[in-house]
Amino acid sequence: MEFDRRSADRPPFHDPDEAEHAYAGATEESSDARIRHLQRVPLFSGFGEEELRRIAEMSKIVDVRAGTAVTRIGEPGDSFFVIIDGTVAVRTPVGTGAELHPGEFFGEMSLLDGEPRSATIVATTDLRLLVVDRSDFWRLLDETPDLISRMLTILSRRVRHLEQTVHAILHGTNPT
Ligand code: CMP
Repeated sequence: MEFDRRSADRPPFHDPDEAEHAYAGATEESSDARIRHLQRVPLFSGFGEEELRRIAEMSKIVDVRAGTAVTRIGEPGDSFFVIIDGTVAVRTPVGTGAELHPGEFFGEMSLLDGEPRSATIVATTDLRLLVVDRSDFWRLLDETPDLISRMLTILSRRVRHLEQTVHAILHGTNPT
């Protein structure tokens, strides 16, 4: 699933077999309503009204049904996602990894390195997502440098966790 702005008047999509480029329902909300969603996202905590307004301008709120594959491993990716409500499962080449929860993000890797999606992300509940297109992603990072440091911290944690998982697989131990 990659969000398609041209399809914003269609209902939320719910076919778990839809490919990544299929449509997910974009909710038509006022800028203030979108800002209220953003205020609940820990990734944006401490951001002022003006920063949140800029983020809201560069993003869409999209509702996705449980069971939908939001990204598919190996496919091209053009969107960055922040979970506002709901939970997703991350399926990486080494197996099903972490669940991601409200406030967490995914889809940054393909935008950062231009490679295909590294994992399949499946909605395990109905989701409300903040979606930022490739063209706005870099502008978002340029205009909100705090976001870069927050994302780097989270990405470091993900690498550590992945290393521990690989260690456990190789050695048959629980590394915690
Ligand atoms: P991207 O490769 O663009 O699309 C799939 C996304 O899954 C990826 O970006 C990351 O956001 C996320 N992802 C990949 N591997 C992991 C992991 N080990 N833990 C958490 N999230 C991951």
